[in-house]
Amino acid sequence: MATLDLQNVTKSFGSAHVLHGIDLAIRDKEFVVFVGPSGCGKSTLLRIIAGLEEATSGRIVIEGRDVSREAPVDRGIAMVFQSYALYPHLTVFENIAFPLRVARLPEAEVAAKVGRAADILQLTDKLHLKPGQLSGGQRQRVAIGRSIVRNPKVFLFDEPLSNLDAALRGDMRVELSQLHRDLAATMVYVTHDQVEAMTMAHRIVVLNAGRVEQFGTPMELYHHPATRFVATFIGQPNMNLLPAKVLGADASGLMVEFHGGHRMALPVDASSAKAGDVVEVGIRPENARPGAGLSMKVRVLERLGGVAITYGLMADGQRFCAALPGDTQVAEGETIGIEVTPADAHVFDANGRVMQRRMAPGLAA
Ligand SMILES: Nc1ncnc2c1ncn2[C@@H]1O[C@H](COP(=O)(O)OP(=O)(O)O)[C@@H](O)[C@H]1O
Ligand SMILES: [Mg+2]
Repeated sequence: MATLDLQNVTKSFGSAHVLHGIDLAIRDKEFVVFVGPSGCGKSTLLRIIAGLEEATSGRIVIEGRDVSREAPVDRGIAMVFQSYALYPHLTVFENIAFPLRVARLPEAEVAAKVGRAADILQLTDKLHLKPGQLSGGQRQRVAIGRSIVRNPKVFLFDEPLSNLDAALRGDMRVELSQLHRDLAATMVYVTHDQVEAMTMAHRIVVLNAGRVEQFGTPMELYHHPATRFVATFIGQPNMNLLPAKVLGADASGLMVEFHGGHRMALPVDASSAKAGDVVEVGIRPENARPGAGLSMKVRVLERLGGVAITYGLMADGQRFCAALPGDTQVAEGETIGIEVTPADAHVFDANGRVMQRRMAPGLAA
């Protein structure tokens, strides 16, 4: 059972406090993605798990055993980096076999382990080649192969696809998800790319400035973002945020007024709000449709085929993006009405915390 627990992990570099008390319980065989903007502490946290960096305080527990003081090689982890760090003069076989050579395993065992890794990674017919003869994606697979042969309890990946072009990244996402299923291992994967996080993770940890903003499944984060930060980080195109004034708050929710004068009754827990407060109403582009309500002047229409990403400006200059049906008749320069189902809106208070949605009785969250 390769569970991985982080308990109140902090990290400071001198006076720079980079991680502020990280608590996470990662399950056996889970694929967890750490996502967040550059500099938020993802790599530092991963390096602390690996033992390449020492936490300032807190504990790292693998399979119920505190490994905080153990050397990287004793922790049962393997790490794959963005730069492949392959040996150019060695064949693919020897690059993958490297950790086994260091451990002085018998030749037959080396061949068996490398063969199995190559099989999983579809590198069997490349084993005799040098890294220079491979594509970027193949080289990254060799680096992954080198971690597979060590049979680690936990795999750690730090932005392994960042150096690849977009098409290859898409292919590798699928391959890594398949690899996870084949190996049935616990994996922690770091990326700044929310698409990688959404597509590969069982659960996503959203990190912001050294703190966990939210830990949940991709669809939990999508439907129930806890904060404004998570709401705007997850989902493509990004969620719109419209400032609105609170006209009233009661047991049924909030009544708000947008800058243009449009009013909306929002079914959220409004117990912390009062008339006169300013909130932000989050509306995903895919939840906006042509109709009555808000209005915007269309600036640019991106027709992707099935969907037309429509960028506009509201009367007060606020930007708004709507994902309209691909064959919408809307034209650039036109002013259109936008309708939103209030239950699809997310409401954030002045601190960026979400106001919980009220569910109709009998409706599951
Ligand atoms: N060895 C170090 N010494 C000083 N500051 C560091 C060191 N490593 C990382 N940092 C700082 O810690 C913060 C988090 O860095 P990092 O974990 O690499 O972020 P991410 O991987 O999310 O982009 C950054 O502000 C970075 O400058
Ligand atoms: Mg990093």
